[in-house]
This record gives sequence, structure tokens and C-alpha cells, in this order.
Amino acid sequence: MIRLQIDTAESMEALGEKIAEQLRPGDLVGLDGELGAGKTTLVRGIGRALGVRGTVTSPTFVLARTHPSPKGPLVHVDAYRLSSAAELDDLDLDLDQSIVIVEWAEGMIEELADSRLEIRIDRSSSASDEPDEVRTVTMIGHGQRFEDFRIES
Ligand SMILES: Nc1ncnc2c1ncn2[C@@H]1O[C@H](COP(=O)(O)OP(=O)(O)OP(=O)(O)O)[C@@H](O)[C@H]1O
Ligand SMILES: [Mg+2]
Repeated sequence: MIRLQIDTAESMEALGEKIAEQLRPGDLVGLDGELGAGKTTLVRGIGRALGVRGTVTSPTFVLARTHPSPKGPLVHVDAYRLSSAAELDDLDLDLDQSIVIVEWAEGMIEELADSRLEIRIDRSSSASDEPDEVRTVTMIGHGQRFEDFRIES
């Protein structure tokens, strides 16, 4: 388990870039954390590091969006409006050929792959008016693929 404190939205994107360096097609990443925790912000950094064209935005209404990249397709899923893992399965995600990242993943992706990286983002309880707020990011790698997953600090 890796736990980090991330103070700003920009650092969250930078963390996404570090994570992306270790991702390749076939990888599955699950993101959890309350509304506005910073899940999409993290994916934006992943997209930036992969070199996707344009900016990653929330796929809430399309459910899944594929961003071609030189390192393979990045498939960004928002499972918020899905009610079961079966509905996620119905999207026929190309798990073998893509890097698949799912927001609101808990309870949805566990059956999709034995190897997966689960990332949880928690807001601190102290609400403030500051645009940047501390987040605690907890990463747990499951399966062989993420045995050696590390983040350089
Ligand atoms: N430390 C931080 N890390 C990430 N985002 C932060 C941080 N501090 C402030 N923010 C702000 O919090 C918001 C996070 O929004 P974002 O869309 O990434 O969240 P989300 O978890 O994807 O939400 P949703 O559940 O609606 O999909 C952004 O406006 C971002 O600028
Ligand atoms: Mg989001």
C-alpha cells in the first residue's frame, strides 16, 4: 500500500503522470473517492503523460471515452451512473489492448481482472474556501502486474 498527501490539483495531475509512466495496455486502474475528490484531475495527469490529444474531461454522460495515445488507447470510464458490474461489462471495454481507468470503481471492477491498481482519494474533513485542499491518496496494487508498483517521491 502506498499513501501520499497531495496538496494541490496540480500535484494531483503530477501524481497521475508518475502513475502513467508505469502503465501499459492491459492495465486496469480503479479510482474511488467522493464527488469532487480529484479522480478526474488524476486521470487528466495520466492522459497528459500518455500524450493524449486534448484534455481529459469527465465522461459522466458518455460513460466511457477512448483517448488514443502513442502508448496505447486510454479508456476513461465513469461508473457513477452504472448500477452493477454487469452494466460495466456491457460496455465491452477493450481490457487487453487499452489502459482502462474507472472512476467509482469499487464494487464494479473486481471481477474484471485479477491484476488491478485501486486508488482511493480522500478529502480532509476540514472544509475551506481555498481552491487547493489536501487530499490523501491511497494506492493498493492487486495481482502480479502491480506487485512492484512504486511511486518515486
Ligand atoms: N489536492 C487536490 N487534488 C485534486 N483536486 C483538487 C485538490 N485541491 C483542490 N482540488 C479541486 O477539486 C476538484 C476535483 O474535481 P474532479 O473533477 O477531479 O473530482 P472527481 O473526483 O472526478 O469528481 P466526480 O466525482 O464529480 O467525478 C477540482 O476542481 C480541483 O481543482
Ligand atoms: Mg470525475
